[in-house]
Amino acid sequence: MVGLFSRMIVGMTVRMPKWFVGWVSRRYVAGSDLESAVKVMKRLSTEGACFTIDVLGEDISTMNEAIYFLEEYKRVIEAISSNSLDANLSIKPTAFGLLLNRKEGMKNIESLVKMAAEHNMFVRLDMEDHRVTDDTIQVMLDMHKKGLKNVGVVLQARLFRTLDDIEDIERKLGSDADYRICKGIYLEPSDIAHTTRIDIINATNKCIDAMLDSGAYVGIASHDYPVITHSLEALKKRSMGPEGIDPRANSGDQRHNKGPGYEFQMLLGVRGPLRRKLQSKGHRTRIYIPYGEKWYEYSIRRLKENPTIGAQVAKSFLMPWTNRP
Ligand code: FDA
Repeated sequence: MVGLFSRMIVGMTVRMPKWFVGWVSRRYVAGSDLESAVKVMKRLSTEGACFTIDVLGEDISTMNEAIYFLEEYKRVIEAISSNSLDANLSIKPTAFGLLLNRKEGMKNIESLVKMAAEHNMFVRLDMEDHRVTDDTIQVMLDMHKKGLKNVGVVLQARLFRTLDDIEDIERKLGSDADYRICKGIYLEPSDIAHTTRIDIINATNKCIDAMLDSGAYVGIASHDYPVITHSLEALKKRSMGPEGIDPRANSGDQRHNKGPGYEFQMLLGVRGPLRRKLQSKGHRTRIYIPYGEKWYEYSIRRLKENPTIGAQVAKSFLMPWTNRP
């Protein structure tokens, strides 16, 4: 019943004028420009959170668009540095031209990762749908081969292949591996992915365990209680926690600007109370901050992908004071 109500609200919202969608989505998107994103991060810094910044947009059709992303992300690096923010970058390799011109795309990504390294900053490769899983992992491995270790990949637990990917990456990178693990937002076909809620949760928890056991750094990206509860237990079982250093024998060096082997990651505007609770217990928490001119397309996609947002839309409408990032 609630699901149907949510879907109805989402169906109506996506047909509304752009200003209305903008008003609803201001909770989830930091704004249309970098200055707005910096403002949001400065405000949320007071809660002790750190950040990863996403310049909105994917599916480019010309290499000129890739140059836009390269230049904009370089501005992001400058802004993080000059505002002394505790933040890193989240990029989509396809936005840098990887699928249009592999050589040029790689050159763009390498140039950004190098600049980030000079600023002691980390770059996360967001994961898109299964058609680019191999390419995205390969970009990360290639960067490491070139000595650029400030790069890590996102893996999607719903894909059957992910436990094998973790094993393979562990063999190649050992404790240099640095992951974000999430359920995966793309609804993948049942011959390659789990499709039920419970199977996806179980798969996510298995991946978290495998990553922790591999000695890697693990960014746990979920707002779902069964995943958070499992993660807290998994950390405790391995004597990992906010205090002190990473106790795992295979964990390698403590990463600069990072937590003791793990952190929790959440999207801007989603389950703030849970994030603040984790933060208050001392866990490192990172907020994913999307901004950009493509905020409208991003918002519509999010609304369609997650019909539970419908309830949030209704709440925003009835209680507008609750609608803030
Ligand atoms: P679940 O979907 O059960 O959400 C739990 C609750 O959180 C929902 O009931 C709802 O209240 C709230 N919620 C969750 N997502 C929401 C949203 N978008 N808007 C509003 N409320 C929401 N995926 C991917 O394929 N590639 C990637 O690179 C990334 N990157 C990424 C980074 C970070 C920091 C996060 C937190 C997530 C991603 N994801 C992602 C998305 C991820 O795969 C997954 O789709 C979402 O996190 C939702 O799954 P949960 O585990 O949060 O559970």
